[in-house]
Amino acid sequence: MDKGRRYNLDLLEAWELGSLLELAEVTAESALARTESRGAHSREDFPDRDDANWLKHTFAYRREGGAYRAALQAGDDHPLSTEGKGVLMAKATIRILRYNPEGDAKAPAHQEFVVEAEPTDRVLDALNYIKWYVDGTLTFRRSCAHGICGSDAMRINGVNRLACKVLMRDVGNRVTVEPLMGFRVIKDLVVDMEPFFAQYRSVLPYLINDSRPGERERLQSPEDRERFDDTTKCILCAACTTSCPSYWANEEFVGPATIVNAHRFIFDSRDSAGGERLEILNNHEGGLEVPHDLQLLRSLPP
Ligand code: SF4
Ligand code: FES
Repeated sequence: MDKGRRYNLDLLEAWELGSLLELAEVTAESALARTESRGAHSREDFPDRDDANWLKHTFAYRREGGAYRAALQAGDDHPLSTEGKGVLMAKATIRILRYNPEGDAKAPAHQEFVVEAEPTDRVLDALNYIKWYVDGTLTFRRSCAHGICGSDAMRINGVNRLACKVLMRDVGNRVTVEPLMGFRVIKDLVVDMEPFFAQYRSVLPYLINDSRPGERERLQSPEDRERFDDTTKCILCAACTTSCPSYWANEEFVGPATIVNAHRFIFDSRDSAGGERLEILNNHEGGLEVPHDLQLLRSLPP
């Protein structure tokens, strides 16, 4: 048996108890020695207690049927509601285009949910709230919640956006959320993205170089790396491609995301299959004729 260890733990426990007793003693002595008035309970100049109004603003509140949250909240009739409008909770109506292939309704239909939302909540927060506390059957994709994974692209007030990147204060208190256009809807906001990924795979989105690498790795200058830096940032959310009317009409239309990902490797100085990719793009329908569509430009996540 490790006696030394056992005895040391006993000693630590004794010290800890001693410290707690000392702390309690100091606290009690300070309270007894206090001479000045402190806090509303003992100040003579303080107005009469008015819980009916004071408790209207609090740092802890409960969302309807949901979890407790800590944040500032004031009723509309409280003076704070004018000054502090930007931080107050508000009701928002989220209108979601729903579709359940296994349900009774055969056609997609909008359903409205009223939620409380802070201006700095994201649309994704509102959707999560609905799913977690109101209707668990609501179906949508999300993962990172920080604009990295690209899984929560959807139409928000008619524009393709990532729900995790859109603040409630930027979309107003009546928000329409619908699945991306141009894809088969699997359920609610979840679409079948396989045609999109098939096009992505078609441009060989990986480094191709059959020559032997150098001693340790294929070197690249910072300038050469810079040439395709922007196109490494595509998160394959499909917001751009599904904003394109040509894609809605024709799933074979190659779409901007595929071109972006082809660019990623065509301009990589270490790659040797640029010509092959250009040829593939050239044979794709609409491959090199991306329309200048304002809707498409607006949809690109920053
Ligand atoms: S290029 Fe298209 S698919 Fe890629 S991140 Fe931008 S919008 Fe999404
Ligand atoms: S949840 Fe990952 S990008 Fe929005």
